[in-house]
Amino acid sequence: MKKLNIMVIGAGQMGGGIAQTFAQSGYKVYLYDSIEDAPKKRIEFIENILNKNIQKNKISEKDKVNTLNNINISTSLKDAKDCDLIVEAIIEDIDIKADLFRELDNIVNDNCIYASNTSSLPITELASKTKRADKFIGMHFFNPVPVMTLVELIRGLATSDETFNFIFEISKKINKYPVYVKDFPGFISNRVLQVMINEAIYCVHEGISSIEGIDEIMKRGMNHPMGPLELADFIGLDTVYNILNIMYEGFGQEKYKPCPLLKQYVTMGWLGKKTGRGFYNYNKEV
Ligand code: CAA
Repeated sequence: MKKLNIMVIGAGQMGGGIAQTFAQSGYKVYLYDSIEDAPKKRIEFIENILNKNIQKNKISEKDKVNTLNNINISTSLKDAKDCDLIVEAIIEDIDIKADLFRELDNIVNDNCIYASNTSSLPITELASKTKRADKFIGMHFFNPVPVMTLVELIRGLATSDETFNFIFEISKKINKYPVYVKDFPGFISNRVLQVMINEAIYCVHEGISSIEGIDEIMKRGMNHPMGPLELADFIGLDTVYNILNIMYEGFGQEKYKPCPLLKQYVTMGWLGKKTGRGFYNYNKEV
């Protein structure tokens, strides 16, 4: 396969993890963010993770250097002009994503593929905002990206076989397990996961057990690495709320309606780990 040029747009937790994953597998990536110092901060975070992996004898110093050398900070979307693949991992707002893709349409070459890491926005609708719906696909990674082996591949109505096959193959090359999913609200991962999380929140709301109790039941009884409430905090309660609403609107079924307690947490700005408070308090001295 020829050497690929890849750009990851969005240097948050997901974008950074995606860039790290490609870089670890030997691909050169540009990391771009509309906030100028975000890529630099994210690379510092990645370096910390890699240093920990060296201490654990998981990787060598050389692996670390190679990975970091493969990630280039980009300060202009114009760097996309020679890219074969753009992986978008920006804010989950369809208008903001559409603006980005419209801008990219004026920069990229004819063969460039767009892969969106959206966790719930409709791929067909996003693709329709671009000039290349056949070269548009959902490539949904999971947090923490370098650790989680799944990637959900969502085909829009117009996604070509060529695009799908290219993304399927590259997913395997970066050591992910790709699973094909149709473009339906919540895809598969969130359709199943968020209903479980919502149900756990209902259990808190109804006082059936304590937050810790509910999480322990799912961890010890079901062997989940995190309980559903801890996981909701990890994902972000605003994200959980938005995904449930997208499914509620998309299917029109009550089973997807966010629990009123979740809405209250989001209103309070108790969004989970990222704000220091969610179902758990992350600011506590230990
Ligand atoms: N970046 C890279 N590596 C990370 C990391 C990060 N941000 N956070 C943790 N890790 C690595 C650690 O270095 C460690 O690596 P080794 O095993 O090689 O040593 C490994 O992950 C385990 O970490 P810890 O030992 O610190 O902690 P842990 O054993 O408690 O595991 C966890 C942490 C991997 C996050 C685990 O709790 C887990 O799997 N939780 C469930 C995560 C999950 O369900 N994610 C999906 C969320 S949904 C989503 O992302 C998509 C969506 O649409 C909402």
